Amino acid sequence: MSAVRYELIKTCKQSGARLGRLHTPHGVIETPIFMPVGTQATVKSMTPEELKEIGSQIILSNTYHLYMRPGHDLVKEAGGLHKFMNWDKPILTDSGGFQVFSLGPLRKITEEGVNFRSHIDGSKHFISPEKAMEIQNALGSDIMMAFDECAPYPADRDYVKKSLERTTRWLHRCKEAHKNTENQALFGIIQGGMYKDLREQSAKEILELDLPGYAVGGLSVGEPKDLMYEVLDYTVPLMPENKPRYLMGVGSPDDLLEGVIRGIDMFDCVLPTRIARNGTAMTSEGKVVVRNAKYARDFSPLDPECDCYCCKNYTRGYIRHLVKANEILASRLITTHNLHFLLKLMEQVREAIREDRLLDFKDEFFKKYGYEL
Ligand code: GUN
Ligand code: ZN
Repeated sequence: MSAVRYELIKTCKQSGARLGRLHTPHGVIETPIFMPVGTQATVKSMTPEELKEIGSQIILSNTYHLYMRPGHDLVKEAGGLHKFMNWDKPILTDSGGFQVFSLGPLRKITEEGVNFRSHIDGSKHFISPEKAMEIQNALGSDIMMAFDECAPYPADRDYVKKSLERTTRWLHRCKEAHKNTENQALFGIIQGGMYKDLREQSAKEILELDLPGYAVGGLSVGEPKDLMYEVLDYTVPLMPENKPRYLMGVGSPDDLLEGVIRGIDMFDCVLPTRIARNGTAMTSEGKVVVRNAKYARDFSPLDPECDCYCCKNYTRGYIRHLVKANEILASRLITTHNLHFLLKLMEQVREAIREDRLLDFKDEFFKKYGYEL
């Protein structure tokens, strides 16, 4: 038995979007779902109780960061990541591939793995597919991601082909090295950049491993949105119906809706938490840059339609003051609101799928929200 099991409940007659349940060792997740990002074993500024209060069902954390600090041995000694950070719901860990590749000149890729220097102290390190599995096995996440290479955009066909073929070879090594398949599910990642035939090649190679779930990687790397949607149009139909489908690193409201409509079940992104910390809210009326002077005397809530703790109790004027004064509470309040906003959006999406009206919902949503984020 695999550690996670996807149950397809229904498909929206209007849009083709999927309503499902993902059964994991730490509970059941209703999909489609957005996963808040907790890179350093914390969703920045939020306690686990607060995360649950706003409806988080699963969070994402990062192999690379926890390997560098405090180290996976230490987390294991603490009883695993769930216990270490006091989060008893599901956790997905990204493999470190993406983070290591983002280091740019600090890293070198070989067939064996990736050599790189720490972003913290410059010390030398090496992550291979085997090491990525060892780290994630020590962390004890419910879902572990394969160690892959996310090609940059733009990248020429020849490079992307070589890169996806190495990602396939690495996936075989990941599957071989993965211990504890009973409690932790390994997801494969489809690469292939913006090339249709390469996405087909990657999907074919990766599906052969018969893993409990699959992700689409290599998107939201700077390409135009329409191009990302086009890649999803031909890639998602290649993925199995009976397994969860995860679109990595995507989380603006329009991308979530467009992704769900194309058959995606899971998303993650630092966007809502990151923009919160520089004073920007996502609201039903679009983006509100609450740090702007025009909100100084605005004593209405961040989002008049929201019922989160922040919107029930505080005004734009007060939150702007906190942002300007660099007060910690500003980050906490806007993060609470932004995550609540996206999690509620996904709840509304699930409801709309259940009632076969997701395209109507999307039109209504964007009439008010606009298309800016
Ligand atoms: N996060 C966003 N995109 C990617 C990707 O292509 N691979 C991995 N491992 N993580 C990602
Ligand atoms: Zn709110």
